[in-house]
Amino acid sequence: MTKERVLTGITTTGTPHLGNYVGAIKPAIEASKHSDIDSFFFLADYHALIKCHDPVQVRQSTKEIAATWLALGLDTDNSTFYRQSDVPEITELSWILTCMTAKGLMNRAHAYKAAAQANIDEGEDADKAITMGLFSYPVLMAADILMFNGKKIPVGKDQIQHVEMARDIAQRFNHHFDDLFVLPEAEVGDDVAVLNGLDGRKMSKSYNNTIPLFLTEKKLQKHINKIKTNLLEPGEPKNTEDSTVFQIWQAFATEQQTQYMRDQFANGIAWGQAKKELFALINDEIGPARERYEELMADGDFIEKELQKGGERAREYASALLKKVRAAVGIAPILK
Ligand code: TRP
Repeated sequence: MTKERVLTGITTTGTPHLGNYVGAIKPAIEASKHSDIDSFFFLADYHALIKCHDPVQVRQSTKEIAATWLALGLDTDNSTFYRQSDVPEITELSWILTCMTAKGLMNRAHAYKAAAQANIDEGEDADKAITMGLFSYPVLMAADILMFNGKKIPVGKDQIQHVEMARDIAQRFNHHFDDLFVLPEAEVGDDVAVLNGLDGRKMSKSYNNTIPLFLTEKKLQKHINKIKTNLLEPGEPKNTEDSTVFQIWQAFATEQQTQYMRDQFANGIAWGQAKKELFALINDEIGPARERYEELMADGDFIEKELQKGGERAREYASALLKKVRAAVGIAPILK
């Protein structure tokens, strides 16, 4: 039986937060332990350059994200964990795909369209500060996916369109040259929670409302205390529906624990108490990994070795496929 290949990338621009953990990292790490799933997880550092021109931040984020995944128990023997930039075949493929990608397709990409629209709304030239990196970003993402014949691509809703574009590009290549690429499919788990942030909007670096995953205990409690609540007093029943405290609780709780907190809300638990219990729940789950994270952050060599190991494995696959791709398009040695 051939294993199903699951592939996803993480852009290295920020510090992992609880929303990333619940929505992406935790399910991916669980998948990495499954012997019938062949997972490819990578640090999309070339994608980071699209939105971040601060070299210190790109490097730091790459280290933090790698340490986070390793600390949380990613099985790097049963999965391939690598850095995009360690596999130059990806950027090479990206150019070949660029030449098979309709500009009109890229014109329709949400991320680019939103940036152009924001410029127009401000009375600026539509292209102001828009780089070719942003414009062509879906092609690089297609190369990430197609280079490894990724089939299932777990992503957030905002990335579905990009996976569909990768599929379009693959189809066009397969039709014109040779059937070399598997057609990828986005996988958006509906049971995967999208966590709210401190202000009640979706937890996201761009809203500056995140709770970083590996804070010290003291800082974690402090952040949790900042979660927006209402003015209901202790003893007054509270609504679970619109409560970020409850929503985050639920993402970490068993069914029984969820029921327990639902009862506490009905009984009028004080916000301070609910936040204390939320801290304990989260801390129990991530406390052990936090220690490992601190060790890894202090020992860059170990992280680097793990990434090299994954990079080698990824290149083995990539170079074999790229050879076929080059031959298919006519980039080949002169024949006698
Ligand atoms: N663009 C994705 C994001 O911002 C990250 C990413 C890069 C990715 N390459 C990928 C995701 C390939 C899935 C497959 O979230």
